[in-house]
Amino acid sequence: MLTDRFGRSIQYLRLSVTDRCDLRCTYCMPKGFKGFEEPEHWLTFDEIERLLAAFARLGTSRIRLTGGEPLLRRNLPELAARISALPGIRDLSLSTNATRLNRYAYELREAGVARINVSLDSLDRACVENITGHDSLTKIMDGLMAGKTAGFSPIKVNMVVMRGTNDHEIDDMVAFCIEHGFILRLIEAMPMGATGRNTEYVDLGPVQARLKEKFDLHPQAAELGGGPARYLATADGSASIGFITAMSQHFCATCNRVRLAVDGTLYLCLGQEEKFEFRPLLRGGASDIELEDAIRAAIELKPQKHEFREQPQKIVRFMSQTGG
Ligand code: 5AD
Ligand code: SF4
Repeated sequence: MLTDRFGRSIQYLRLSVTDRCDLRCTYCMPKGFKGFEEPEHWLTFDEIERLLAAFARLGTSRIRLTGGEPLLRRNLPELAARISALPGIRDLSLSTNATRLNRYAYELREAGVARINVSLDSLDRACVENITGHDSLTKIMDGLMAGKTAGFSPIKVNMVVMRGTNDHEIDDMVAFCIEHGFILRLIEAMPMGATGRNTEYVDLGPVQARLKEKFDLHPQAAELGGGPARYLATADGSASIGFITAMSQHFCATCNRVRLAVDGTLYLCLGQEEKFEFRPLLRGGASDIELEDAIRAAIELKPQKHEFREQPQKIVRFMSQTGG
């Protein structure tokens, strides 16, 4: 078991397989951004498999493939199959913007990806274009429905709520997700990079109270995925809504995760700079024992909490660089 200095056990790794994306969500990646990682710095599938096997030997049981947009990485289903075959890995999931999911849903399901999170901030075509920089709603919807057909379960829809942009659409999103059996997760925008900082988050506390009344929702005890979201469910339990209140309410005390960027940098927190570079070890002939020691040493660096509110200027990396 990996345990950090604050007694939190770390069993969850989010693996960014690329820092590139076909969209440019306003809160995430700057327009015209060119500073992507060089392909020779990308961990290869062999390197990823070896490093994740070491994490799994130390108790990591859950992996999420993320990015950037993970489906931009060539042969992703092959990597998924290799990861889900690792001893100790019990849960493999994917975060995607779904623009290419129509093409890959079935293969990914076959490769052992059990569940997916899809980023979708609006159901209005113009609004989606405004947020993502592309007229992408049709492709995203095709992908989302392909995911449903392929049998991912659950399917979560991530909505970053932005004041004056899409906050009037919350109720429509709730209804849409209830209709399709998706779990909606409302997210407070975090000040990661200038893009995140320029986005005004909406305090989800009052939103939660209002939705509770309107849709007759009840707090859900059961954990849905072991993440930071708090959930409300309909009385019959058929639908639920999650609230990720990174800004208005800290959930750092129960943080169970770390993030591996495409270049082999392990980030210990979304909102802090602590990191550990694994690429030099992987390419410098480190033994399995040395890798395990390095992982333990890296986990020691995990900070207690983010300081998004106290120091909003601090984090210059935007989300797609860290792995969302
Ligand atoms: N704040 C909150 N969420 C963000 N995401 C990207 N950037 C931010 C930000 N600054 C979300 C995306 C995606 C998830 C992986 O991270 O919408 O759903
Ligand atoms: Fe791409 Fe996701 Fe960032 Fe949007 S939030 S630009 S879909 S990586």
